[in-house]
Amino acid sequence: MPSTAYDEVPYEDYPVTETHVDGLYLAARRAGLAAARPERARVLELGCAHGVNLMPMAFHLPEASLVGVDLSLQQIERGRERVRALGLDNLELRQADVLDLHLGSRRFDYVIAHGLYSWVPEPVRARVLALFRETLDAGGVAFLSYNAMPAWGIRGAIARALLEAVDLERPPIEQVRQARAALRTLEAVQPLRGTAEGSLLRGEIEALRHKPDSYLLHEYLVPDNRAFYLREVVARARGAGLGWVGDVAPSSLSPAETRAARGELQALGLDPLSTEQLVDIVGFRQFRASLLCRDDAERGEPTPWAELLREGFVAALPSEGRDDDPPALAELLAALGERWPELASPAELAAALGRDEAELLAPLEILVEDQRVQLRPRRLPACRAGERPRAAVLSRFEAAHLPFVTTPMHEHAPVDAFHAALIGHLDGQHTRAELVELLIGDIAAGNLRLAAESMPPVDELRPALARTVEAALQRLGLAGLMVG
Ligand SMILES: C[S@@+](CC[C@H](N)C(=O)[O-])C[C@H]1O[C@@H](n2cnc3c(N)ncnc32)[C@H](O)[C@@H]1O
Repeated sequence: MPSTAYDEVPYEDYPVTETHVDGLYLAARRAGLAAARPERARVLELGCAHGVNLMPMAFHLPEASLVGVDLSLQQIERGRERVRALGLDNLELRQADVLDLHLGSRRFDYVIAHGLYSWVPEPVRARVLALFRETLDAGGVAFLSYNAMPAWGIRGAIARALLEAVDLERPPIEQVRQARAALRTLEAVQPLRGTAEGSLLRGEIEALRHKPDSYLLHEYLVPDNRAFYLREVVARARGAGLGWVGDVAPSSLSPAETRAARGELQALGLDPLSTEQLVDIVGFRQFRASLLCRDDAERGEPTPWAELLREGFVAALPSEGRDDDPPALAELLAALGERWPELASPAELAAALGRDEAELLAPLEILVEDQRVQLRPRRLPACRAGERPRAAVLSRFEAAHLPFVTTPMHEHAPVDAFHAALIGHLDGQHTRAELVELLIGDIAAGNLRLAAESMPPVDELRPALARTVEAALQRLGLAGLMVG
């Protein structure tokens, strides 16, 4: 089997919050689909790289069954080692080209293709959509992300410039070297200095110079790289027997700005798809994640937020409160901020505030729409650090093997050597004082290096380390990385 560029320079994949089945479930219910509960979901990911996105879902949803497929054997093998080490028998990673992938009568509730569609040749794109149609169950939802127009117009021009300057016959590492040299030159040659177009180009080139090699290689040095307008993707999906459900990728516009733009554009009297397309253009959209379903799926009325809220759990970061919030919102945000990262059902929240659940639903709906309150269809294990702090087995594994750890909310947090060593000890068995001694042991054994040139005497180190550990535990708790 010929090796791919991903074998030679593996992709640095990380969990993608928007692909989590909790969010897909809620988006599908909102769109009136009979979506499958996340706990027992059947999930397929195409182009899963090392399976890093599926691993946390498999870990936190032990009754779900997940399959990841990728062309790169090297990435799949490394992923399988991790899956074995974590004992995740509900996650299967397969090496295959989607062009040859046939899953027989197997059906899935959620099919994910993230970071694939824009970067593969046309026949692969067509096969991805055909696979969605073949493998989705009746109420199932597919997640398709892609580089979007119009922002990718300018990025596409930079990618084009790099492709001109790079010899694609050379080894990937050599291509990256050539691309970096070209970026330096492009930055220096600035005939449009002082103009709006010039500063746009310069900003893009500058940002690209700081990206890792794997990003430059797999995002920009791809001859098939193509960005899409939403309308094009919806038309292609229709041609493949799929319907458009909505979108979940974050935009550079806030939810309030998006609503305002949509409202103003309604003056043109266009259909929702055209309006959405115009919002992309005025908001200079760069990335999209569209949700698709089978065109024969039964679509009922959209499920009201109130119903989803009553069935679910909410949480909000302590920083979500704003000075100009009306009292009804401020009260809720303060109560949720105190609990963060623990979730509460609206009924629990109402009991804590001495209010009626029904009174809370309207303000909660506003906060969920504004993405200041997270709504989830199930409870998560996240809590603040206790007497003997504990991180999930998954987090301890990730801290030892990956540059980040994943929260139960499916967000990833980068970890440095200190946090990795600390998280490695958070098995719920140790007090804070014991954690300090374990870290002193790591330092003495040379497994953890201090930023200082030489190690101070242990008596001086201990109090400083105790303060650092306490602060780190607070941070890890707020990041959602402590579990009960
Ligand atoms: C840019 S990476 C994205 C990885 C991951 N989904 C993410 O977003 O973090 C694209 C992945 O798609 C895989 N891929 C490309 N063409 C493929 C094909 N024809 N069949 C299966 N996988 C493919 C590559 O090996 C690579 O791992």
